[in-house]
This record gives sequence, C-alpha cells and structure tokens, in this order.
Amino acid sequence: MIDTSLKITKTQNSKLSTVDFSDIPFGKTFTDHMYVADYKDGAWTNMEIVPFDNFSVHPANIAWHYGQAIFEGMKATKHEDGTPMLFRPEMHSDRINKSAERLAMPAFPKEAFMEAVYELVKLEGGWIPPMEGSALYLRPYMVAMDEFIGVQISSTYKFVIFCCPVGPYYSKPLKLKADDHFIRAAVGGTGEAKAAGNYAGSLYPTKLAKEEGFDQIMWLDASEHHYVQEVGTMNIFFVFGNKVVTPATDGAILKGITRISLLEILKQKGYEIEERPVSINEIMLGAQRGELTEIFGSGTAAVIANVQGIGYKGDSISMDISKYKIAPMLKDTINGMRSGRIEDTFGWTIKVV
Ligand code: COI
Repeated sequence: MIDTSLKITKTQNSKLSTVDFSDIPFGKTFTDHMYVADYKDGAWTNMEIVPFDNFSVHPANIAWHYGQAIFEGMKATKHEDGTPMLFRPEMHSDRINKSAERLAMPAFPKEAFMEAVYELVKLEGGWIPPMEGSALYLRPYMVAMDEFIGVQISSTYKFVIFCCPVGPYYSKPLKLKADDHFIRAAVGGTGEAKAAGNYAGSLYPTKLAKEEGFDQIMWLDASEHHYVQEVGTMNIFFVFGNKVVTPATDGAILKGITRISLLEILKQKGYEIEERPVSINEIMLGAQRGELTEIFGSGTAAVIANVQGIGYKGDSISMDISKYKIAPMLKDTINGMRSGRIEDTFGWTIKVV
C-alpha cells in the first residue's frame, strides 16, 4: 500500500552530549536521526524519520555496480535568536530531480523533500553548531536498490537524508592544478548532475595532483582543454578589478546553488558580473599582468574558498590573498545571512519553527 504520511520514531539514545562543536572534522560525525523513503511499484512510500542506523544491502545491489546514485549537499544554520534555518531548500529539491532525470531515476516529490528537511532539522536543531561559518550539513541522496547485475534502470530506490555538524570544508587557501590531460565531464555527459560517478572519476587525477603538491584540480573542458570548468568540489570565480567572472554553465558544469547565490548578491551590490567561457590562458596572463586580483571557489560545503595559486603545464601563478576584498565580502554576506546577522533581503532563508 502506498503511504506518503511521514512517520517519526525518535531515538532513545541521543549522542548529542558527546559532541564537541569546537572540533568537528567535516563529514565524520552523524546526528541521531535520518530520513528514509522507498520507491517501489512506481511510487515513493514508507517516508520515515528513524534513529540513525546502518542499512542491510544485497551484494548484487545494482548501484554498487553501475553507479545509479545521486546526491545533494545543503546546510541548516542557527539564527542569532536560536531558530534553525534552511538555505534555499527548494533549489536543492529541484536540482536533485534534474540529477534524477539524467540518471533515469524517479523524481522525489518537492513537498515530500521540503517536509523531510524541515522535520529533520526541527528534530536535530540541537546539532546545529552555534558558531558562524559552521552548520548542520544535510546529505540527501538517492540510490538504486534492485538486486540484479544486468545493466538496466533500477525499479526500486532509496531516498535518504542524514546530517553532520560541520565546520569549513577547506581549512586553508588552495593551490590548484589546471589539468591538461584528465577531464571531469564532457558536454552531453553527466557533469551537470550531482552524480556519484562524477566524483569517483575525479579521485585518481586528484591523487596525482596532490602528489605534485596541489590541493585540488581545476578542470578544463573536455574537447580543447582550454576553458575552465570547475574545481574538485566547487564552482570557480575570477575577479578582474571590479568585474567578477565565472564560467558559464554549459551542461558539463555543476549548477552550484552557492554559485548562483553569489552572482545574485554581486548583482544586488552593483558589481559587474560575467558568466562566459573563461580560458586558462586568460587566467594565467591576467595574473602575470596583475589584472587578475582574486580567485576563489564556491560550494555548499566549501562556502567560499580562497585560491592562492594555479599551476598549468609547468607554469604557475600565485595570488596575494591578503589583498582579496570581494571573496571575504561574499563570505561575510552569505554567513551573515545564515546567522541572521545580515538581513536576508532575498528571502533565501527559511526558519524552522
Ligand atoms: C557540497 O558542496 O555540498 C558538495 O556536494 C561537495 C561535496 C562533494 C563535499
């Protein structure tokens, strides 16, 4: 029977008192509850919030073989008055459903997504770190559940949301390698989807880049290795004086929710913004001529991460982060909105009461 009502079972053994919010490595601490729903016979059912626990998974689980798995990353923060807040949750619902379409997975209804994140954050409010810049990171994901090793679309899925209290994803400015050999995504591929496989494919080239002393890869386009796409876990921005430039999303670049939010903030503040193809030569030359004044990444996990240098084909540029003005302003604005310190004139934050 299809049951779409949300059932909530609370834990009898909260771990909250054991957590030290001043020392939380990213993604290793999990809260007391999680949301789960099942897709079978063509419909979503069994929507539940339950005590956090392991799943039992069949060894022939189809996603473990062919990677039909997608995810989101979103954040809940605490307003200065103590009220939990969500940041643009409806955009995460829309994006996971775009990812689902690309991976031939079923859409998860927006009303159910909103109810899930709202009720979960209401229940886990005590797990939101109080410090500005920290947050409760929500990880919604959908994974195929058929027990079958033929290559085909699964007929069953799980939709899950768990939560982790987190500090910043990157603790120091980043050195990027503009990779002229490996690629992350080609237009027509799955690069715009938040698909597990995109991240799997990035691991080996990133390992090689780290061995060369870089922190992350800045991916270049698949056909010419000439145009910048994005960085490991973030979109990328370049500042030339008062002009802020970011690669236009072309089907191979993730449509970051932080990315679009930053563009809207910049527009509101009167900066000149350009979304367009950005070549690696323009970046290397711009830095050498002193015209490129800031480089930073944006993402839900990373928020804003300063880039201190880029290496490309044996050449390198380095940036003077102490002179950055726009990246710190954006970080302050977005963190301030998420703590209620700065008024959210966009209506992006939703109080969970
Ligand atoms: C996020 O920023 O939320 C992401 O999904 C990046 C993640 C791979 C850490």
